[in-house]
Amino acid sequence: MDRKLKDNVAVVTGAAKGIGLAIAERLAKDGARLVLADLDEPGLKQASARLVDQFDTEVAIEAGDLSDQDVAEKTVKLAANRFGRLDILVNNAGGGIIKPFAEHTPQTLKTTIDRNLWTALWCSWYAVAQMRQQVYGRIINLGADSVRNGLWDHAAYNAAKGGVHGLTTGMAREFAKDGITVNTVAPCAVNTPQMVAITRSDPALAAKFVSVIPIGRPAEMEEVASMVSYLASAEASFVTGQVISVNGGSTML
Ligand SMILES: NC(=O)c1ccc[n+]([C@@H]2O[C@H](COP(=O)([O-])OP(=O)(O)OC[C@H]3O[C@@H](n4cnc5c(N)ncnc54)[C@H](O)[C@@H]3O)[C@@H](O)[C@H]2O)c1
Repeated sequence: MDRKLKDNVAVVTGAAKGIGLAIAERLAKDGARLVLADLDEPGLKQASARLVDQFDTEVAIEAGDLSDQDVAEKTVKLAANRFGRLDILVNNAGGGIIKPFAEHTPQTLKTTIDRNLWTALWCSWYAVAQMRQQVYGRIINLGADSVRNGLWDHAAYNAAKGGVHGLTTGMAREFAKDGITVNTVAPCAVNTPQMVAITRSDPALAAKFVSVIPIGRPAEMEEVASMVSYLASAEASFVTGQVISVNGGSTML
């Protein structure tokens, strides 16, 4: 593996586990120095120690709720304060509260938007200030293929992720002349520990999610991280404003 992100500094949110941890691992393997952020402080400490050890890189961590403006500001500024720059922001923090729209409560609706949209919005808002000074930046959001195919029970989640997709196109245009690209990677079902648990506890539900995927299986986390790694690289300089599905064909075009 070439270290194509050597000298790059990346912030990865929601990096204590799941897809975010797989992305952090891939960017570390590519040579980036990292700021990892999450609600889960013990998880962050564990991830950080492992990545430093395994990939001979430097890692800083920030624990807190990234839908809180102050936490997002502190997290993004930690990159420049600790490492002198910020090249890559991966807005991965999020996750669905997947249930029929009518069964949501005011709190689950609010949490869905906070967790998936406000986290990305605040972090991006602070990141562009630093990236504009450098005339370079890569912002990669985690969206969702369910926005395109209207998956069962995903209405509230899709409202939040649809907001992330919208943020992508608007920011891409606004910052195109500043050397900043903004893209979204939109997975379908992914083989996270959570998905493994669902497959065990409710095989019918897991099969329902996979039934829309022509390749016939969930994505591996590394397959999502691979697309993020490409979009995070200097090589992806002419790709901006895109929502790129990593979805086994569950939507096409
Ligand atoms: N797993 C899938 O099948 C799938 C499909 C499409 C999109 N996605 C998206 O990919 C991303 C990662 O998904 P995952 O399955 O790995 O999720 P996950 O729940 O396993 O991990 C998400 C991480 O984000 C953190 N987080 C959540 N809200 C936060 C907040 N407000 N502040 C700070 N940290 C916060 C959590 O603590 C957790 O560690 C999410 O944005 C999710 O919506 C996942």
